Amino acid sequence: MSDAFPVPEPPVSPIAWNGTWRDGALRILDQTRLPHHEMVRDHREAAGVIEDIRRLAVRGAPVLGVAGAYALVLSAREIIEADPTCTRPDFLAALDAAGTRIAAARPTAVNLPAAVERGLALARRVPGSPEQVADALLAGARALDDYEREACAAIGRAGAAWLEGRRRFVTHCNAGALVTTGIGTALAPIYVLKAAGADVHVWVNETRPLLQGLRLTAYELRKAGVSIAVVADGVTAGLMRRGQVDAAIVGADRICANGDVVNKVGTYAVALAAHRHGVPFVVAAPSSTLDPRTPEGDAVPIEERPHDAGAYLEPAAVAADLPVYAPAFDVTPAALVTAIVSEFGVLTEPDGARLGPWLARVPGAQADAAPGR
Ligand code: MRU
Repeated sequence: MSDAFPVPEPPVSPIAWNGTWRDGALRILDQTRLPHHEMVRDHREAAGVIEDIRRLAVRGAPVLGVAGAYALVLSAREIIEADPTCTRPDFLAALDAAGTRIAAARPTAVNLPAAVERGLALARRVPGSPEQVADALLAGARALDDYEREACAAIGRAGAAWLEGRRRFVTHCNAGALVTTGIGTALAPIYVLKAAGADVHVWVNETRPLLQGLRLTAYELRKAGVSIAVVADGVTAGLMRRGQVDAAIVGADRICANGDVVNKVGTYAVALAAHRHGVPFVVAAPSSTLDPRTPEGDAVPIEERPHDAGAYLEPAAVAADLPVYAPAFDVTPAALVTAIVSEFGVLTEPDGARLGPWLARVPGAQADAAPGR
């Protein structure tokens, strides 16, 4: 990790754990209320965290993994409190069941099931009582939290070094501080360039249908003093044609073994336009978003939610029975990706072979995964 660029503080934090496994709570900033209300809730039960994941109060791939790891700690406490004399095998069986519920809260981002799987593997590996396992789970969740923060800083520095000299960016959805425990993924290089004095400007795709760009990316970039203009998703191609975009940069919910990128629906259209106009299309994601076990994008379950479709039905003029197809994500083939930036560095022209060394470093790709890596 180069330290040529200073890394600024994140403008906002989506989650924070306070306390020990016995008395702690997970604080979640409710992103459904942004930008108008900065409302937080302290969760003492895993069910509340699962519900907040489902309704997108906490969202975005890396922080979903961290929230899942903390939810497992809350589950461990609930199991122990329900039966303080429970045996280790009974405890581990109940924890497995809780892990299945947490991992199923959202299907597309690999970070959530991967973090839960690693927590459960840790629980089986750590010797001792359920209390000792709960303590180890909290240490593992904190390690993942710290790791993701550091990964953001490394992505920020590596991305800034690679993008230096470019100043007008397009981004889609929200892949900033709100989706990580640090300064974000796609927005990290932008924050770092801005802190280094660059005159950056960001075209923020509004991001249909739930408007993560308009509501969330605009909110955090403005908080950080970055120059922005929100654009309807359909504007981006025209901006590129007129030479007003120096690079597109987005996050990812999953990067498959062949380099295909699964991200918020509409990302593929950005990549196509970038390709047509010779604009670099950059994907920034921590290694926790790499999925060595899924060969290609079409093998990834793409979430569809009734409330996404409902967003189209809000105007009063629209019939309540209007048929809507509203996938939450799409697949950008690896061939359209100019570069992937992770905490390991920058990989240009990604494909299965070139990604291989990075994939081999992902815990779970190896036998003895450690939660904090
Ligand atoms: O449905 P969301 O808001 O959770 O979708 C989030 C995205 O698609 C982000 O771009 C992605 O998770 C990358 S975040 C680093």
